[in-house]
Amino acid sequence: VLLTGHTGFKGAWLALWLQTLGARVSGFSVSAPTRPSLYELARVDEGMQTRVGDVRDADALAAAVAAARPEVIVHMAAQPLVRRAYAAPKETYEINVIGTVNVLEAVRRSAEVRVAINVTSDKCYANRPQGAPWSGYREDDALGGEDPYSSSKAAAELATEAYRASFFAGGDDARVATARAGNVIGGGDWGEDRLVPDLMRAALAGETAFVRNPRAVRPWQHVLSPLSGYLVLAQALWESGEYARAWNFGPDDTDACTVQSIVEGIAERWPDGVRWQVAEPARGRRSSFSEAHHLKIDSSDARERLGWRPPLDLERALDATVAWYRELREGADPRALTIAQVSTLSEHEPRAAA
Ligand SMILES: NC(=O)c1ccc[n+]([C@@H]2O[C@H](COP(=O)([O-])OP(=O)(O)OC[C@H]3O[C@@H](n4cnc5c(N)ncnc54)[C@H](O)[C@@H]3O)[C@@H](O)[C@H]2O)c1
Repeated sequence: VLLTGHTGFKGAWLALWLQTLGARVSGFSVSAPTRPSLYELARVDEGMQTRVGDVRDADALAAAVAAARPEVIVHMAAQPLVRRAYAAPKETYEINVIGTVNVLEAVRRSAEVRVAINVTSDKCYANRPQGAPWSGYREDDALGGEDPYSSSKAAAELATEAYRASFFAGGDDARVATARAGNVIGGGDWGEDRLVPDLMRAALAGETAFVRNPRAVRPWQHVLSPLSGYLVLAQALWESGEYARAWNFGPDDTDACTVQSIVEGIAERWPDGVRWQVAEPARGRRSSFSEAHHLKIDSSDARERLGWRPPLDLERALDATVAWYRELREGADPRALTIAQVSTLSEHEPRAAA
């Protein structure tokens, strides 16, 4: 299995999970995007072959695929930050769209790749006002995005669809799918501009956390939930080309809640509580980005056709996330801690079903 973006948050979790499953894993990515990072703390590189490279460099990427000869590719390398995309829109499109095209080209040229999954986002949908009751965006809803990040992910979806129809439509061709998931939480995230890392950084330093948009509703899920979706999807694609399409991997409706309730859920679980306040917009800056205010995706296709279930619900996701940072503070080895969470959490039934 070759992962792009294996030095990132989702990539590090998925690389460790695949290592524990006994897969031969390789990775292609620029260096870890944060310091500290789960990738470095958990010594993810110990169990895999890694290559440093930029997805905008088509030759380097093709060479990495030719050397690793993967049967499965999960493409996660991206510029994933909405705020940075406003500051650097061209770079964001180059990494997220041309980078994806370069992955698709490398797949086209490979005789070994049988399954490729392009990880995009729940933000790839056109943001349309919805009446109630509404189950969320479905995979055949219009793509769009009013900010550069969202639109770059919609464009990556469109490029994948065109390549699939044009180059991957035959029996022996690689089976190429896209996966759309939303905000993830979990231990080991130090991303900038992300709620849980902001809270955990403040908690570990004994400082006050600043929270944007406390009333915004988001579908929250543990990082292992979409990752389990990618694995289930890879397996289904391995077995049949009929699964080569776009898939949503979102949490249950009950796990869509406000930023504020996540903050409170984390503060309750952290031993000394977490001090926080609403962030004042900086002078001369827009008070909030044009981020879709209420993002909801309908994952009934993944549940019904792939048999996917999120392995843990929001309460357990919050328990596991806070436990990870707490155990780190208490001196646990991050690699052992993360692998232990993979093995205990990936098989958990959601509490509601227990
Ligand atoms: N974290 C979330 O809540 C979330 C939500 C929806 C979608 N996603 C998507 O999931 C994927 C993984 O996100 P993440 O949270 O792990 O982000 P991350 O920033 O932690 O990881 C991104 C990875 O891409 C690599 N990368 C960045 N630019 C690169 C380039 N030019 N060439 C090669 N590698 C490059 C980074 O080094 C890192 O390994 C991304 O495609 C992201 O858009 C994430």
